[in-house]
Amino acid sequence: MTKSFYLTTPIYYVNDAPHIGHAYTTVAGDVLTRWHRQKGESVWFLTGTDEHGQKVMRTAEENKTAPQAWVDRLVQDAWKPNWANLNIANDDFIRTTETRHTQRVQAFLQSLKDSGHIYAGKYEGPYCIGCEEFKLPGDLIDIDGQKCCPIHSKPIELVNENNWFFKLSAFTDQLLDHYRTNPDACQPESARNEVVSFLEGGVSDLSISRSTFDWGIPVPWDTDQVVYVWFDALLNYATAVGLTDAPESAGGKKFASTWPADVHLVGKDILRFHAVIWPAMLMAAGIDVPKKVFAHGWLLVGGEKMSKSKLTGIAPKDITDHFGVDAFRYYFLRAIPFGTDGSFSWEDMSARYTSELANDFGNLASRSAAMIEKYCAGVLPAASHDADLEAALKTAVDKADVAICALDFQGGILAIMDFCKKVNGYVTEKEPWILAKDPANQAVLEGVLYNTAESLRALAVLLHPVMPATCEILWQSLGAQGSLGDLSAQKISDVATWGQLPAGSLVTKSPVLFPRLETSA
Ligand code: ME8
Ligand code: MG
Repeated sequence: MTKSFYLTTPIYYVNDAPHIGHAYTTVAGDVLTRWHRQKGESVWFLTGTDEHGQKVMRTAEENKTAPQAWVDRLVQDAWKPNWANLNIANDDFIRTTETRHTQRVQAFLQSLKDSGHIYAGKYEGPYCIGCEEFKLPGDLIDIDGQKCCPIHSKPIELVNENNWFFKLSAFTDQLLDHYRTNPDACQPESARNEVVSFLEGGVSDLSISRSTFDWGIPVPWDTDQVVYVWFDALLNYATAVGLTDAPESAGGKKFASTWPADVHLVGKDILRFHAVIWPAMLMAAGIDVPKKVFAHGWLLVGGEKMSKSKLTGIAPKDITDHFGVDAFRYYFLRAIPFGTDGSFSWEDMSARYTSELANDFGNLASRSAAMIEKYCAGVLPAASHDADLEAALKTAVDKADVAICALDFQGGILAIMDFCKKVNGYVTEKEPWILAKDPANQAVLEGVLYNTAESLRALAVLLHPVMPATCEILWQSLGAQGSLGDLSAQKISDVATWGQLPAGSLVTKSPVLFPRLETSA
């Protein structure tokens, strides 16, 4: 059985509708998985929603709605339509209130109890409902004399309960060893350093159940308690692909073909859960730990993390209605180094839209099609070669592949857009509109037009993971479908092979790929 490239996003809390921070992570995951699909790999891409816990329960209460009805409505009316709008091609969507999840969580928990990793204890300490996290006194900041969570700037609550505990501390050395011997297992380097020094400081056991509310999965042997929401949520990555199912069953086979996950994509706010608690849970169960946790930076508003709890979120639709979905997908990955914090600004996005997308890419496509229509009656001339262009393409593909596979989306996109600039330079230098004035130049003119179209063929394939709908329009306009097949079936490893568009292809002018922006009054 071939192992799939398995990528996950966080499962988001459905206390409110998504904002562009959530879209940032999921779009990155979508681009990476589309890239791997075009490398010819089998891929499994999971996203979903985190529906239990006090944060969601309280929001439901504030809205005078039962929690299940609240989450059902938000998933249906806000989260799923948002991913459809952004053209996210996930293979599965898990909700933590689904039976497939709750049953497997219970089975997993019971097995940890049976193997002696869980014990009864008492928890007393601060808790942030925004983070759904037990905090250490040193984690807190003082606001107006009150102890507050530094992320949510809201007062913490004191928890004092008899709970079930997971022997997390027992895995400290094994975790340290893991990150020291596998530097790739936690990226970028700043994230790994943070995790290592956190582990070096020592780790306490973790309370994994709550008894003061009931919106959660019942602890199988003590149904007065519900499972701590993070213990429940982290397991989604494995329950969604069949964790605890018998090896010969469909779930067991799915698990064998996906686990361990190749990349858990998360924001840096939830790094410790993913790089400390989650692998320890797996170690306790004797299951392989994920190959990589990648923690990207935050989209900031006024220097602080954009947040549902603080109501500072910008809805993705506010941006896609103005710039289009593909410009949205492009912009955040292009503008912000993945792993670093960044801010969104209309001005910066408008400037890049116009210079990089409309001028460099969109105009190249429309000029090329217009000239082939005008000078060659819309019929692609015979194949031609240009050593410089071919070499530049080869370099772009190699660089982009290395960068994107290392989650350096900015580096990957830049390598591709550098090639786009090179092609623009080629057209400017060859001046086909001048060549066209003298019929004696027809062969040279046709060569230039072929090379331009062939470069666009490569750009359509390379940019397809980032801007699928736009590249599809370009693909149709190049008349490539009939000869080369589906755009999504084009392989990254073949892109740099020159001369794929056959002579005689019918090239047509497409709708403008990136229309002029409407200026708001
Ligand atoms: O933490 N900038 O869910 P959540 C960049 N349910 N990314 C951001 C962001 C911002 N300002 N705001 C949110 C939870 N994100 C848990 C996860 S996983 C087993 C459980 C993205 O709704 C980023 O990926 O608070 C961040 O880690 C995630 O949304 C947090 O979403
Ligand atoms: Mg959050």
